[in-house]
This record gives sequence, C-alpha cells and structure tokens, in this order.
Amino acid sequence: MLILAIESSCDETAAAVVKDGREVLSSVISSQVEEHKIYGGVVPEIAGRRHAENISKVVQSALQGAEISLDNIDAIAVTYAPGLIGALLVGVNFAKGLAFAANKPLIPVHHLRSHIAANYIAYPELKPPFLCLVASGGHSHIVECKDYTKFKVIGRTRDDAAGEAFDKAARTMGLPYPGGVHLDKLSQNGNDEAYTFPKVKIDGYDFSFSGLKTAVINLVHNAQQKGEEIYMPDLAASFQKAVVDFLTSRLMKAANDLKYDKIALAGGVAANSALRKSLKKLCSDNNYTFYMPPLNLCGDNAAMVGAQGYYEYLSGNLASLDLNATANMSIE
Ligand code: KG4
Ligand code: ZN
Repeated sequence: MLILAIESSCDETAAAVVKDGREVLSSVISSQVEEHKIYGGVVPEIAGRRHAENISKVVQSALQGAEISLDNIDAIAVTYAPGLIGALLVGVNFAKGLAFAANKPLIPVHHLRSHIAANYIAYPELKPPFLCLVASGGHSHIVECKDYTKFKVIGRTRDDAAGEAFDKAARTMGLPYPGGVHLDKLSQNGNDEAYTFPKVKIDGYDFSFSGLKTAVINLVHNAQQKGEEIYMPDLAASFQKAVVDFLTSRLMKAANDLKYDKIALAGGVAANSALRKSLKKLCSDNNYTFYMPPLNLCGDNAAMVGAQGYYEYLSGNLASLDLNATANMSIE
C-alpha cells in the first residue's frame, strides 16, 4: 500500500511516499529554521505562511522523488494534532483538498504516534509491545506502545518538555536557535561533571525540567554579575548529563517495573548524542533490545507520518473531509 504523507505541525514542511508503513520511497523536508533563527524561536504566523507557500512544491517533489503520480497513491496521511494550529491547518487543508480531488482515503495521524513510528522504518522487525521515551520540543512522555494504535502514557513532564529545556538553557548560554543541537555540539568539548544540579524528586515516572532550566539561568546570571567567566562547554555538558540522567533513570525504572525488554526512543531530542549513548549502554547492560531512529528520522519529517498512517489505516482510523486540526491532543 502506498501512502502520501504530509507533515506541517511546526517549522518543517514535509511530504513523503511510504510503502506498507516501512519502506520510504521519497521524503522531502523544507525547513524554516533559518527564518525563525533571527527571532530565537518559531514564530507561529510566519510558520503558517511559509507552509502555505511551500506545501504544493514539497508534495510535488515527494511524488516525483518516488516516481509516481497521485493516481498510484492508495491513501493520504496527514498530521492533524498536536502542534501549532496555524501550521497544522495548512497540511490538513492541503491533504483534504488532495483526498477530495483524487478520491483517496484520508488518514489522520497524531504527531507523537508518528515520531514513535520512525522506529518502524529503521527496524523492519520491530513490533509492539514495547516501551518508548518520546522527547520533543513540546512533549516528554514515557509511553507503553501496546499495539500500533494503542498507547498508554505512564510518565509525562509536569512543566517544560526536555527539548524546551535544552532550547532555553542553550539560549541562556548564548547559542542560536534551535538550541538543543548546538548545546549537544558544544558539550562534546566539555566536562559533564564540572557542575552538579539538584536531583528532581517526583514520584512515579513523571519528569520536571523547569528547575534545571532555572538553575542554569541563575548560574549564568550570577557569574555575569560577579564578572566571572563560565567555560560554556562544561556547563553544556553538565546540563545535558542532568537531563539525560533524569530521562534515562525514569525510563529504566519503568522498563524494570513493567517488565518491558524492548525499549525505543523517539522525537527531536532522540538526536541527542549523550541520550543515544547512555540508553544504548543501559539497555545493553540490562539485556533490553534498544531501538532508536537514525538522525534524519528524529526531527519532524513526513516519512514517519506515512509509517504510522499505514497502521492507522489498518485499524480503520480514517477521517472524513471535515477533519480539523487540533493544537493539543493526547496520544492515547
Ligand atoms: O520533534 P521535534 O523536531 O519537534 C517537535 O515536535 O517539537 O523536536 C524538536 C526539539 C527541539 O527542542 C530541539 O532543540 C530538540 O528537539 N533537539 C535536540 C537535539 N536535536 C534536536 N535536543 C538535544 N540534542 C539534540 N541533538
Ligand atoms: Zn516533532
């Protein structure tokens, strides 16, 4: 089955053609990062406008890349929630128009479900059930993936998402947007034990990152006021370690408590080098099989939407032409 997938939930306009949920025939991503950089973050109005300008070209080049025409597509999948409403609406309306014009089924795809499905592309043998850490700019969840379209969130952040904490700490350190990837790079030359941060005490599998973020802000401001120099690579590496230790310790506890032996990682923060390295080792030490998408499938893309779209289709999750975009929606 061939699915044309469309993604426009944040600042990437993307389209892809995916076969049977696992094989990517084409994947096109048009990033707006350069434009949002000067504002230090995504400006929703600009994002929506650029999606509207780019979507037609991006979809066309995905079809061309797969060397097929719209007639040969079996269904159209689109990210409809959660995300920036003005951005989501562009993809949803474009997908509705195509589905109507070409008389194809329309498949609504939840953004976080699609991040998890990036692993199905990378690992053709991967099947639920497994436990997944989903960490992006807007969410940090520990999710029981009970089946392809059946999820249970057992841990979530009580305040900032992990990606948001990376971005805000990075900004305080004077790094450009998007901060996470720059902080990751800077930390390569740093000592991750140079600074210690207070351990967050919350029961269960929930997260909290705002205290860590505030600690970094206070540390930098105090040093500035006293005229002291901070060696930023050390601060970046220490902050990154604190975030990674928190994420991984909760995930490992959940895996142990709930007896999962298959662990996956997903979302933009899955690109973090320290997180990848740490989880790989912890899973190997505990005899868990570990799955993580390659870097090009960690950030927002439409290939993952095509992958999840296939399983939504098989479960009968189809949308009618009055499908609307939704800014907030649980993965469950
Ligand atoms: O999934 P994503 O592309 O967009 C959302 O759905 O939010 O995630 C973006 C987030 C941003 O906060 C970005 O800074 C973070 O992922 N990120 C990273 C790295 N690459 C991207 N955070 C830490 N280290 C990285 N290497
Ligand atoms: Zn995302």
